[in-house]
Amino acid sequence: MSKEKIVNIINRYGFCNIEPEASLNILNDIKRMKKEKDIIILAHYYQKGEIQDIADYVGDSLAMAQIAEKNSSKMILLAGVHFMAETAKILAPEKKVLIPDLNAGCSLADSCPPQKFKEFINSHPGHTVISYVNTTAEIKTLTDIVCTSTNALQIIESLPKDEKIIFAPDKNLGNYIKSISGRDMIVWDGACHVHEEFSVERILELKKQYPKAKIIAHPECERPVQIIADHIGSTSSLLKFTIQNKANEFIVATESGIIHQMKKENPYKIFIPAPPKDSTCACNDCEYMKLISIKKIWATLKYEVPEIILSSETIEKASHSIHRMLKISDELGL
Ligand code: 13P
Ligand code: SF4
Repeated sequence: MSKEKIVNIINRYGFCNIEPEASLNILNDIKRMKKEKDIIILAHYYQKGEIQDIADYVGDSLAMAQIAEKNSSKMILLAGVHFMAETAKILAPEKKVLIPDLNAGCSLADSCPPQKFKEFINSHPGHTVISYVNTTAEIKTLTDIVCTSTNALQIIESLPKDEKIIFAPDKNLGNYIKSISGRDMIVWDGACHVHEEFSVERILELKKQYPKAKIIAHPECERPVQIIADHIGSTSSLLKFTIQNKANEFIVATESGIIHQMKKENPYKIFIPAPPKDSTCACNDCEYMKLISIKKIWATLKYEVPEIILSSETIEKASHSIHRMLKISDELGL
């Protein structure tokens, strides 16, 4: 990265609360350590802008898994949440997979405890289990095929029409897929606290101020928000829509980090975060995603901790359901 680019990033974000020269040193150190240690940084679209800008790859959950499986670096630093780092470890078990903060969890993954999920599966015999990638490794060991928001519909449609399906853990994504596919699906009652926070009334108020704006929503949003959306899709699908659609204004009903890429791709378009029900909170930010910082990335690269550790048995069992997803996605060019 050129000095000019680094200074530009520092000026734009003023991050780290330390002197610019020290910030410059941190960014240079990160660049040096990545190269010396052969580590790639994979960042999710919900990461802070300055983290997306130093990452080797920025993408949605599916893209991160695909890169984790295929890249040839020695180690992976995952700038995202725990289930994403676990997925990378399962796909690249021989590599050291690092996550800068082990507390970077996910309320949606937490809404599906393995013991209760086992009981749920046992009480619905004869069902194929499809789990969203936002689950723990243990849930993936109980799953037939993993999916992400990018490929959920295609994964469901790859099954025979009369297949009985359990979908977990996100009820909003699950019911959305059920409604458009018409499949026989039982949906687990889980949700993401960030996406359930958007207020349909306040979005409609905002729409009066920006009548030409397109409303775009992640499928983890509640049904009323989905109904008023002009486009529903995964983070990468929402990003693509903002590039391809002629509109100049977009009301964005998903975590705020994606707006960084939207602005980069469309410098002259306007992006308005969808308002949450509670007007006093910073609810569009996933506090788990935002636990990752440049300083923590620096420390993780330097000391090579925290590392994702999984038993070989868990890796072996969970890898089947993830590989099935990747195979179907590959065949469909996703
Ligand atoms: P994507 O599948 O769009 O990356 O979303 C992941 C996520 O955590 C949504 O809240
Ligand atoms: Fe999990 Fe929601 Fe955060 Fe995504 S936004 S990582 S689903 S808590």
